[in-house]
Amino acid sequence: MSHDFPPGSVWLVGAGPGDPDLLTRKAERLIVAADIVFYDALVGAGVLALVPAGTEMVSVGKRSGRHSKDQVSINVIIASAALAGKRVVRLKGGDPSIFGRSTEEMDHLAANGIAVKICPGITAASAAAASGGASLTLRGLARKLTFVTAHARAGEALDLDWTALAAPDATLAVYMGRAAAAEVARNLIAAGRAADTPVMVAVNVSLPTERILRGRLSALAFLVETISDHDPSLLLIGEAVASRTLETVEETGFVSSRFASVGGD
Ligand SMILES: C[S@@+](CC[C@H](N)C(=O)[O-])C[C@H]1O[C@@H](n2cnc3c(N)ncnc32)[C@H](O)[C@@H]1O
Repeated sequence: MSHDFPPGSVWLVGAGPGDPDLLTRKAERLIVAADIVFYDALVGAGVLALVPAGTEMVSVGKRSGRHSKDQVSINVIIASAALAGKRVVRLKGGDPSIFGRSTEEMDHLAANGIAVKICPGITAASAAAASGGASLTLRGLARKLTFVTAHARAGEALDLDWTALAAPDATLAVYMGRAAAAEVARNLIAAGRAADTPVMVAVNVSLPTERILRGRLSALAFLVETISDHDPSLLLIGEAVASRTLETVEETGFVSSRFASVGGD
C-alpha cells in the first residue's frame, strides 16, 4: 500500500468538475487505495465508478436547500472511520480548497490527532473556461481573477464588496450563483460595472449534459432562467470571456447546440 496513505489517515481529494478524465493521477491512486470513500453530491458518476468494488462508499451529499448531512456530522463520521484504522478518502467536487469547507474537516481531524492531507482538483472555473474556449485572464484587460460565492443564507441579501467586484479589469468566477444571478448583475452594474460586460454561464461542466450560455451582464438574469436547481452552474463575468471567444469557436467550426447566446452577442 502506498507510503503516503497509512491506515487511520485521511486524504481530502479533489474530484474535479465531473469528467473522470479530469481527475489527477494521484486522486485516482488514492481512490483505489482507500478503504472507505465519503463523497459529495457533485462528484461525477464516472469518478465514483473508479472506486473499486468492495470499498465502502458513503454519500454525504449536500445540495442547495437539501442538506442530507450537516457539516458537524460529516466531520464526526469521517473522524470515526479514521480512528477505526481505515484509509479514508473524502472526495469533494472540484478543488477541496475552493468553497469546499475543507478547513472545518481538517481542523476536526487534526483535533482528533488524525493525519490529513489534500490532493488538489480542477476547479469548476478552470473547467468552465476550458469548455467555453476562454481564458480566465487576458493580457491588459483582465488582470485580476476573483472567485466569489453568491450563496447567502435563506432570506439574507448577499454581503459582498460590490465596488471591488465591479473593477473593470477583473474576471469574476461566481460559484453557487444561479439563484442570485439577478442580484449579482444588479449590484455589479450599480457599482459601476458596464452593463454590456460579457458573461458566460457554464452548466454541468465537463459532463455529457454540459451547456455553455453567453450574453451580457444586463441579461444575466434571463440567461440563467432555463437552468434547473439541480444542475451546478458557474457564472463567469468579464472581458476575458467575451464574444470574441465565441467567434473564435465559430471560426474553428466548433460551435454546437450546447452554445447559446443572449444579450447582444
Ligand atoms: C460548494 S461549491 C464547490 C466548488 C468546488 N470545490 C470547485 O472547486 O469547483 C459548488 C459550486 O461549484 C460550481 N460547480 C461545481 N461543479 C460544477 C460543474 N460541473 N459545472 C458547473 N459548475 C460547477 C457551481 O457553482 C456549484 O454550485
